[in-house]
Amino acid sequence: MSDAYPRNLVLVGFMGAGKSTIGKMLADALSWRFIDLDHVIEAQAGQTISGIFSTSGEALFRQMESAALRMLQLQDSCVIATGGGIVGRAENWVTMRQLGVTIYLQASWETLAARLAGCTNRPLARQEQGVERVRALYDSRLPLYRQADIVVDTDQGDPSEVAVEIIRQLKESGLWQKN
Ligand code: S3P
Repeated sequence: MSDAYPRNLVLVGFMGAGKSTIGKMLADALSWRFIDLDHVIEAQAGQTISGIFSTSGEALFRQMESAALRMLQLQDSCVIATGGGIVGRAENWVTMRQLGVTIYLQASWETLAARLAGCTNRPLARQEQGVERVRALYDSRLPLYRQADIVVDTDQGDPSEVAVEIIRQLKESGLWQKN
């Protein structure tokens, strides 16, 4: 593959935005590899994300998350789905920009609230968190997600249509080019 392509595509967005589902489809469409950063962390820790949160706490999880992201630096031709909180640390932005083009999968609060209702495997979106706190987290992260190179709306269209739209926007913005 030509050097003019981005090395990797890095998907960011709130929990429930469809980073994993859309990321897999995008990787298939490009014949690239798909990496789910949460799965990398779980494999390295030998524990689920919920387990890490309950035994070690969020602060340690964030350190593991940054370390796992840095370990991807040698990869290329990968679509990488990150966890919704990756955008909170400035150092993660440095790593993500080194990895390739960042893509924000945008979704409205209404869409996300419906998708996250009844969710039990995300420590920061469980019902006992209280919907107002999850909403406040969403609002506080919006300006961070918007630092991504391109923004793609996921409210409309099924995941395969969003994947096609990502490729269209990459080409249109000149971020995806052959020599
Ligand atoms: C988190 C999102 C999760 C996971 C962890 C923390 C967050 O990933 O990394 O539970 O802070 O938003 P998904 O966005 O894939 O659910």
